[in-house]
Amino acid sequence: QKKMILDLDTGVDDALALAYAVADPAVDLIGIISSYGNVLVEKSAENSLNLLDLLGASDVPVFIGHSHSSDTDHFDVMPISQMIHGVNGVGEVEVPASSRKPEAQSGVDFLIEAAHKYNDDLILIPTGPMTNLDAAIAKDPEVADLIGNITFMGGALTVPGNVTPFTEANINQDVLAADRVFKSNAKSTMVGLDVTMRTLLTTKETQQWRELGTEAGRLYADIVDYYIDAYAKLGNPGGCALHDPLAVGVAINPDFVKTIDLNMTVTHDTEASTQNEDGSTSQDFGRTIGDMARLTAPTNMKAAVAVDAAGYLAYF
Ligand code: BDR
Ligand code: CA
Repeated sequence: QKKMILDLDTGVDDALALAYAVADPAVDLIGIISSYGNVLVEKSAENSLNLLDLLGASDVPVFIGHSHSSDTDHFDVMPISQMIHGVNGVGEVEVPASSRKPEAQSGVDFLIEAAHKYNDDLILIPTGPMTNLDAAIAKDPEVADLIGNITFMGGALTVPGNVTPFTEANINQDVLAADRVFKSNAKSTMVGLDVTMRTLLTTKETQQWRELGTEAGRLYADIVDYYIDAYAKLGNPGGCALHDPLAVGVAINPDFVKTIDLNMTVTHDTEASTQNEDGSTSQDFGRTIGDMARLTAPTNMKAAVAVDAAGYLAYF
């Protein structure tokens, strides 16, 4: 059984990733590292603890990660994140408070220790910014090589971004961390908007969870209905994207997606921009891109470009 660590900025889809990892017998969830993004890092840890208890997984420890990127001195949650995930990150639903606290060990040190202990058997799933992974590699460069599989949710290759026309939220939170991770030896798979925006959940499924008659089923249905509603308000009436849980699914069963091997880069030039069809320009900083000039460069990751959404959803 592979060991799995989730690095979450626990909003709604992170909460779904957590549920998936708790429930899938193929992996042993050994810990959660909290990150910032949908909520502040402390709130992310609190949400993860509450949700783990709700799911009957009170034995899974939660570790605190970095609270902002290394090139900023603090982080504020974006209003759009609060609109999509709720100010509390879990759709304004009151999940019963856990009596547990985050561990004293830092998330970065926990990751370094686990990389040495489990190496090839360790799967890491970052579903927020790459700040913690980057910090672990900076502290102990062997970590990049040691971790068996890093499947991250982030980026957009063939479809528009969700922060700017070219950038996706997780990569955008810490562009320089993503750039360094991409240039490291890390064995990564990118599960970006190319596949997550095609994998949608609707109220048909949340209604089924509600009908289970369990507290977890009811609260998860309420949390996700808030998210589905936000998607509808933003012009996506077909359901909400299963961004983060798809990364967990792909790490366990790669057949859910088709990938291509490529030399993926992140545009880290803050001045770079690209002209849109209407003549306006959009920021390129944070863009995940593998272009013609990189065809001959050694590949550094797999990027998911197509998904068996129905097959995934049925299993999910
Ligand atoms: C990603 O951004 C966050 O808001 C979601 O949780 C997901 O990880 C989608 O771009
Ligand atoms: Ca996330």
